[in-house]
Amino acid sequence: MRKTISMLLVMVMLFSFAFTGCSSNKDNVIGVAMPTQSLQRWNQDGANMKAKLEEAGYEVILEYADNKVDQQVSQIENMITRGAKVIVVASIDGTALKGALAQAAKEDVKIIAYDRLIRDSENVDFYATFDNYLVGQIQGEYIIESLALESGAGPFNMEVFGGSPDDNNAYFFNGGAMDTLKPYIDNGQLVINSGQTDMEQIAIQGWKSEGAQSRMDNLLTAFYSDKNVDIVLSPNDSLAQGIVASLKAAGYGSADKAYPVLTGQDCDTTNVKMLLAGEQSMSIFKDTRTLADQVVDMVSAIMDETTVPVNDTETYNNGVKVVPSFLCEPVFADINNYKELLIDSGYYTEDQIK
Ligand code: BGC
Repeated sequence: MRKTISMLLVMVMLFSFAFTGCSSNKDNVIGVAMPTQSLQRWNQDGANMKAKLEEAGYEVILEYADNKVDQQVSQIENMITRGAKVIVVASIDGTALKGALAQAAKEDVKIIAYDRLIRDSENVDFYATFDNYLVGQIQGEYIIESLALESGAGPFNMEVFGGSPDDNNAYFFNGGAMDTLKPYIDNGQLVINSGQTDMEQIAIQGWKSEGAQSRMDNLLTAFYSDKNVDIVLSPNDSLAQGIVASLKAAGYGSADKAYPVLTGQDCDTTNVKMLLAGEQSMSIFKDTRTLADQVVDMVSAIMDETTVPVNDTETYNNGVKVVPSFLCEPVFADINNYKELLIDSGYYTEDQIK
């Protein structure tokens, strides 16, 4: 009899341990909502964050939304239902998450906007990103240095591309680059033959390579039948891929038609290969390990109810409020420094960029 009672007691203890164990796990759930797996960077961002959050002891729900807004909304709703305490969101359309975020706030779930600001919602608690304006500035400065514009060289023919119009970052990239290049456009050292500089004219929906390729095709046909384009300002790598495909088809990369100075961003392996082949000049390197570390610090501070680390409380107004942000610093990679930045740092192996 005594044996049966003590066995029962042990079973009750085991059951309650399992039960509290399970509920304390629930208190530990973090959601990570990424936009798409079609671009290398978001796979790296997602994987890095998952690994680092798990290392820090959290249970992670990681989802990719195939660039479909509805899918991302239902993934976020599902994370709320599954008990996530903090959700990290790299949005597809920065203006489309108001409803889901209101629901999160009701359940006291905290939201960290990741890389892209979420707009028009008061329920964005923090923002972690690379300094997006600085990304554009570095691209602009790279062009100035490559063509010795400060010593008066030129005139050079330039065309400008913009990112996806539903991505808040696209406007910062463009602003940083164009503010930096403006003096040389104004004094005629840089000539934009198409005259297209407004975001409505230059933006590429969904950051699609095909969109950039067909706009570049059109520009070359309409404005460059009798001259070469010397510079193409591309905000990121997926666009640069499309631009190079178009340039190649038009005969660039030959003796009398050198590739233009072409910018990019993300250091995708495809584009690092393009740097090595001389088809693209530079790419902004945003080390996703740095951003993941930053987000893990933010998540931990939220969960521990301590002060969340931010370094900018002025720049990112989402239309409703200024979102306290942490801005990491981007750098550029090109043929001269890629080895140190990308290989020696362990970001890629030599094999990945062969
Ligand atoms: C990111 C870039 C990326 C682009 C396309 C932007 O919001 O900041 O790094 O190239 O989206 O995915």
